[in-house]
Amino acid sequence: MRTLIKNSSQIITVDTEGRNLKRGKDLQEVYPLYEHSIIIEDEIIKDFVKSASVSDSDFDNIIDAAGKVVTPGLVECHTHTAYAGSRAEEFRLRLGGKSYEEIAEAGGGINATVQAVRKSSFDELVSLVQPRINYFISQGITTLEIKSGYGLSYYDEIKLLQVINHLNKIFPIDIIPTFLGAHTFPPEYKNDHQQYIDVITEELMPYIAENKLAQFCDAFCEQTAFSADETEIIFVKAREHGLKLKLHTEQFNNIGGLQTALNNKAISVDHLEVLAENDIDALSKSETTAVLLPGVSFFLDYDFAPARKLIENNAIVALATDYNPGSSHISNLSFIMSLAALKMNMTIEETLSAVTINAAKALDVSTSIGSLEIGKKADFAVFDTTEYSDIVYNVGKNLNCITIKNGKIIYQN
Ligand code: NIG
Ligand code: FE
Repeated sequence: MRTLIKNSSQIITVDTEGRNLKRGKDLQEVYPLYEHSIIIEDEIIKDFVKSASVSDSDFDNIIDAAGKVVTPGLVECHTHTAYAGSRAEEFRLRLGGKSYEEIAEAGGGINATVQAVRKSSFDELVSLVQPRINYFISQGITTLEIKSGYGLSYYDEIKLLQVINHLNKIFPIDIIPTFLGAHTFPPEYKNDHQQYIDVITEELMPYIAENKLAQFCDAFCEQTAFSADETEIIFVKAREHGLKLKLHTEQFNNIGGLQTALNNKAISVDHLEVLAENDIDALSKSETTAVLLPGVSFFLDYDFAPARKLIENNAIVALATDYNPGSSHISNLSFIMSLAALKMNMTIEETLSAVTINAAKALDVSTSIGSLEIGKKADFAVFDTTEYSDIVYNVGKNLNCITIKNGKIIYQN
């Protein structure tokens, strides 16, 4: 099967010259091609050719991208899309002056969503999450990470991971499941941390590993959640079970999470709003991707992560929505790119690299997706504009009009 994507105004390749990541000043280089077409063979990018030099008759399938911008399929590398219930009442309280942490201490926050998820059946959760995935696909997202973390019991964490795995089977995009049993301590283990850690490491992890329900193990290292020592115990076990690592860390407090993640060779560290000046160097030199979530800073109205310092120090920086009901009820990735540009001084090109190749790096899939290079998967977003800066300039507007996964159109508007 040969497919041609022809006549696009711009193809933003995000080329990496085979490195499959972008560090520091490389984020700025997105290598646009003009007046080119893309040849796809059997779901893989075969070549880029001058539009004038190809003839339609050589192809089984033609996708006309005249007047449009083609980019790599977007990669959303950090979400909590699998939730039930609403936290609109907490949002109202926050608007009245209560803080996110105060609300969590009073029994709201993550544990409020946990109650709603525990009451929901597998089928109810599938129906709740489906339209959220469709919205991501409509934005040009072709790879999506979804975490568990709102079950926080043996039964409910497995239920959530089974929901995520089921959705991966029925949707045409790649959905990557992450086990976040260590999101916070559920009320029944509030005063017995070790017992809950045992549930995670001795009961959940063996089942998850054996049934291949997750690729990653994530945790929330924070004063109100898991300490660095508790995170270490979980990470060591996760590695034994063949799970790759991610960590929510330095969001509100700096309690040693970053160092624990780097020592354990985590694939990504996420949040970093309170990253200490003297930790920037170690993170920037590592192979660990810094996933920044400016939607959280915006939604909770506090500091943004030091994106410029990380990029200037040569770090691998990615961006994601952190879509969840409490701290970032935002599922529009191009809005996150605009926030990153306006509030963290990232350039338009840097935001594009951060939601494509570096987001793929944060999911450990950047050798096959995230940039338009020969041999990679034929995953694309097609935007209804002739100039790629419009994607970030049109704040909050979804300009994607065609989503292509493995060479096939899966969404068209
Ligand atoms: O990434 N930091 C912890 N977890 C989520 C928030 C989840 C929630 O409030 O429900 C986050 O911000
Ligand atoms: Fe998160």
